[in-house]
Amino acid sequence: MHVEPVRGLPEWTTIMIKVIATGKGGVGKTTIIATLARLLVQDGYRVLVIDTDPSMNLATSLGVPFERLATLADHRDEVREKLGAGAHADDEGHAHRQADQHELDEVINGYTMLTPDRVRVMVMGTIPYGGAGCICSSISLVKLVISAIEKKDTTPDFIIVDSQAGSEVLGRGLAADYDLNLVVTESTPRAMDVARHVMKLAGDIGVKKQIVIVNKVEEFSEVPSVAKALGVAPDNVYPVASDRKVYEADRQARLILDFAPESMVITNIRSIKDAIESG
Ligand SMILES: Nc1ncnc2c1ncn2[C@@H]1O[C@H](COP(=O)(O)OP(=O)(O)O)[C@@H](O)[C@H]1O
Ligand SMILES: [Mg+2]
Repeated sequence: MHVEPVRGLPEWTTIMIKVIATGKGGVGKTTIIATLARLLVQDGYRVLVIDTDPSMNLATSLGVPFERLATLADHRDEVREKLGAGAHADDEGHAHRQADQHELDEVINGYTMLTPDRVRVMVMGTIPYGGAGCICSSISLVKLVISAIEKKDTTPDFIIVDSQAGSEVLGRGLAADYDLNLVVTESTPRAMDVARHVMKLAGDIGVKKQIVIVNKVEEFSEVPSVAKALGVAPDNVYPVASDRKVYEADRQARLILDFAPESMVITNIRSIKDAIESG
């Protein structure tokens, strides 16, 4: 079913906004993306989220049962064949011919899942074969799918990539020409070190805009000092409150959006969504 965007972007646009979330493990990328994706869908946007974390937390936290996960990595050769890259062609994710709409639909229908909340989820999966050593060839697959989607008329409004720590994904250039990097951090020195690192990498590969999300904030007064420490303007920094309910929701395999929809955490993530919608 086709959903028209109801606000934010002009309706005539076929522009697809590509967003990536980066930051140290455990800072809250998956929690925030899952919530953001659902809020954007509630606003009428078509959202495809891509889980590039080998542990596949994003898909499961959006309600896709583990048994139903059809990962790209598990179907590497079919995906490459259908999208015109050839099963054993170069590993950079470049197609040698353009896939037609039918082939693309087969990939979308075969390897993405629609959650009960109508977020479309694609899962990269783990290392595709023993000895592959790194996730590079899986990242190339994700690149291949995104570039095939981009060339068609029926693109989603948003693609949001959950990128584990981010460095590998940024290093492999998956996010080159992305519109937005959501740099998720906590106010701890180590999380901020990773934030600085991914901001630099994203800047180097040409990501157009970056905003910083400081998660698990105990005191909102600490936010300006995080902005200062990261060298970014305070109005580019979005706090998300610390709330034990997020953790409780996690333990019950639920999302904070269902568990505590009126919480400060949700109010804060809504502000991020508004900022994304208004460009
Ligand atoms: N705002 C928050 N307040 C309290 N706990 C949080 C918050 N955001 C995330 N968490 C908890 O932090 C842990 C890591 O979150 P997760 O989203 O999986 O991080 P990442 O994807 O960056 O590794 C989870 O246990 C989650 O419940
Ligand atoms: Mg995660």
